[in-house]
Amino acid sequence: MNIGIDKLGFYTSHLYVEMAKLAKAREVDPNKYLIGIGQEKMAVIPPTQDAVTLAANAAASIITKEDMEKIDLVIVATESGVDNSKSVAAYVSRLLGLRKDIRVLELKQACYAATAGLQLAKGHIALHPDKKALVIGADIARYGLKTAGEPTQGGGAVAMLVANDPQILALQDDSVYYADDIMDFWRPLAATEALVDGKYSAGIYLDFFAKVFARYQQETGLTANDFKALLFHLPYTKQGLKALRVAIASLDPTKQAQLLAEFEASKQYSKVTGNLYTGSLYLSLLSLLENSTSLCPGDRLGLFSYGSGAQAEFYSGILQPKFKEALGDHTKLLAHRKEVDVLEYEKIFESNLKHESDRELDITSDPAQFVLAGVKENKRQYIKQ
Ligand code: CAA
Repeated sequence: MNIGIDKLGFYTSHLYVEMAKLAKAREVDPNKYLIGIGQEKMAVIPPTQDAVTLAANAAASIITKEDMEKIDLVIVATESGVDNSKSVAAYVSRLLGLRKDIRVLELKQACYAATAGLQLAKGHIALHPDKKALVIGADIARYGLKTAGEPTQGGGAVAMLVANDPQILALQDDSVYYADDIMDFWRPLAATEALVDGKYSAGIYLDFFAKVFARYQQETGLTANDFKALLFHLPYTKQGLKALRVAIASLDPTKQAQLLAEFEASKQYSKVTGNLYTGSLYLSLLSLLENSTSLCPGDRLGLFSYGSGAQAEFYSGILQPKFKEALGDHTKLLAHRKEVDVLEYEKIFESNLKHESDRELDITSDPAQFVLAGVKENKRQYIKQ
């Protein structure tokens, strides 16, 4: 059976801050953020957007009435959940108007969980080939103002429709995983910002990549030469570049240049949104597909998923004959956003802290289809505009 990604959707908020201006405000050389970290713009998520609305907005951009009839599994992967009990997927399936005879659940393992969702959905479709599954990674990356992690924040969601005979990418049965109990990045239950041992986390990411990629090569007999592109979880684009350099070190210069060129295409969207946590790897995939001019059906793509705490997985997918016809163009979504200055970004960041108390939010300036209008009696009020 050929099971995989049939459609890919993406949503981020309509606001961003320029990294060069953030650097100036923090009295840092702008090239540290632009080159050292590899980020140009950072999505600023207003209080009217959360994991639920980001997920619903991403999914609404791809699913049709026909898909809605067939979707019987909705998985939302997130580490920005809005409730300790009720899943984001339960809200999302109602907002999208999906059937009621379906399964909904939320998955968590830091930035890795969308990959787990995708693989679980693949198993589900293998048992029920006439059905479709909706897998969404939705997050808001928050480290805190004036912290070392601040320039690696961001937010948004990537939605994937998983089906038999997919239009875009057939997932191969070649996953290699590695897990360990590690304190590189975590968020205690009441905390609104992540705690992180930054440099340690960056090192562990590379260590886990080296481990799974070496084992993948041993087990499959494939090498980096067999891939048209290698895709990475991008907490910031420089982190992925470091992992790519490890993977291509022993290749000839022509192949190295080719994989570096595809990496450039894959980082275009992350470079201007920041870390999407669970959605990040799949934003790299979307960015590659929409920005590379050299991809062909049959090409093999390698995907490295990493979630702190920590879990890693490497697997591959094969581009399908009509993948180009299934794609949109998200450069427009990103180009039409509004810049906010550093003071406004800080104000928005602080206002998100009050999320849990009852309040009404001004939704008039948020152009998204799905918004959070407030919280009443501890119940979140979502609206379709
Ligand atoms: N021009 C060019 N480059 C410059 C520069 C300048 N003027 N000034 C500094 N740089 C370079 C540095 O040399 C460094 O490059 P290398 O990494 O190649 O050595 C880079 O800019 C960053 O500089 P620092 O290491 O000094 O930066 P920092 O200490 O302020 O923190 C960080 C960087 C650790 C990434 C921090 O932003 C952080 O903690 N981020 C959050 C954690 C994170 O994203 N970890 C990634 C792995 S974990 C994961 O992937 C899961 C997840 O999503 C969280």
